[in-house]
Order: sequence, then structure tokens, then C-alpha cells
Amino acid sequence: MSKNVMLEDIKEVLFSQEQIQAMITRMGAEISEDYEGKNLLLVGILKGSVMVMADLMKVINVPAEIDFMAVSSYGEDTKTSGRVRIVKDLDRDIADYDVLIVEDILDSGVTLAYLKSVLSARNPASIKICTIFDKPDGRKVKDISADYVGDTVPDEFIVGYGLDYAHKYRNLPFVGILKESVYKK
Ligand code: IMP
Ligand code: MG
Repeated sequence: MSKNVMLEDIKEVLFSQEQIQAMITRMGAEISEDYEGKNLLLVGILKGSVMVMADLMKVINVPAEIDFMAVSSYGEDTKTSGRVRIVKDLDRDIADYDVLIVEDILDSGVTLAYLKSVLSARNPASIKICTIFDKPDGRKVKDISADYVGDTVPDEFIVGYGLDYAHKYRNLPFVGILKESVYKK
């Protein structure tokens, strides 16, 4: 098979496929234990959460339904615009569901703070956050944190495993730091 040309744009690989799988397995075990006997609804935030969602739902061994939302906040920059907009809403009423938001990364916190407040207002039985990556140094909204975290990442722009730069690199199966030369032109 030919070499992955996207690798040329990666400064450093942060997490291999195996390391990511270990995070998923651990989070799945924690979630399975906590949601036994509950009415779990996994809410994936498109498009970044597709890989986490697909892998995580396979290792959750209690009944779980899934739904998706899409929000937009970034444009094609590497820093948040501070504005969030719902591009696609859920298909259902979430009253009585134990909602678990599934995200790719918690950075400034603007997106998840917004989503948590919007979804909380719809009276779910409970609401928690699962993110595979947490970038605490990027935080602007102070009172937001995740209940399930794969691992923390440094304050660098990372791509792969669902995470994009200008819509690209999502299909890398590992996570790496993007070379600055790719976005500082
Ligand atoms: P926040 O609103 O700043 O917490 O950002 C959340 C969203 O920003 C994520 O869902 C990602 O789409 C995007 N994001 C934040 N940091 C990164 C990164 O390092 N790489 C790729 N996307 C990122
Ligand atoms: Mg994104």
C-alpha cells in the first residue's frame, strides 16, 4: 500500500491507534458501570465525534440509543470564533433521557458550555459530557469540564481521529500535531 501523504503535514504523532483504543475501552467501562439501569442517549457532535462515537458505542455494554447534532463555531481557523450555531438539531425530545454528549475535544469550552445549556433546558433526566481529548490550557469558559476524558492534550492544534483542520485530516486513524507551516502561510 502507498504511504499516507497526510503524514507529511504532521509534526508529531501524539496518540497511536492502539493508545486511542485503550482510552476508548477505559471510558466504555466507566460509562457502562455508571449508566446501568438508566436511559442512555449518546449525543454525538458532528462531525468531529464520528470516530469516537463509532468506537465508544461498541464498548458500552448497557442499552444505548444514539443521536447527532451539528454545530458550527470555527470557520477555517485554528481558534474558536466564540460563536456557536446549531446546524443540525436532534431528531427527538430528550426529556427522560440520560444524555451523554460525545465530543472530540474540549478546548475553549465555548461549544460544550453552549450545548450543555441548550440541552439542559430541554429537561433531560441527566446530562454529562464525554470527550476523548481535553485541552485545559485552551479553556476560556471556566465552569465547564468533562465527566469522561480519554486524555489531556497540550495547547497545540491536533488533527486525526475525527479532528480536522479546514475539513481535512479527519480520516487519519491516529492523532498528531499539525505542522504550523500548514496553517500559517
Ligand atoms: P471549543 O468550543 O473551543 O471547546 O472547541 C470545540 C471544537 O473546536 C471541537 O469540537 C473541535 O471541532 C474544535 N477544536 C478545538 N481544538 C482543536 C484542535 O486542536 N484540533 C482540531 N479541532 C479543534
Ligand atoms: Mg472541528
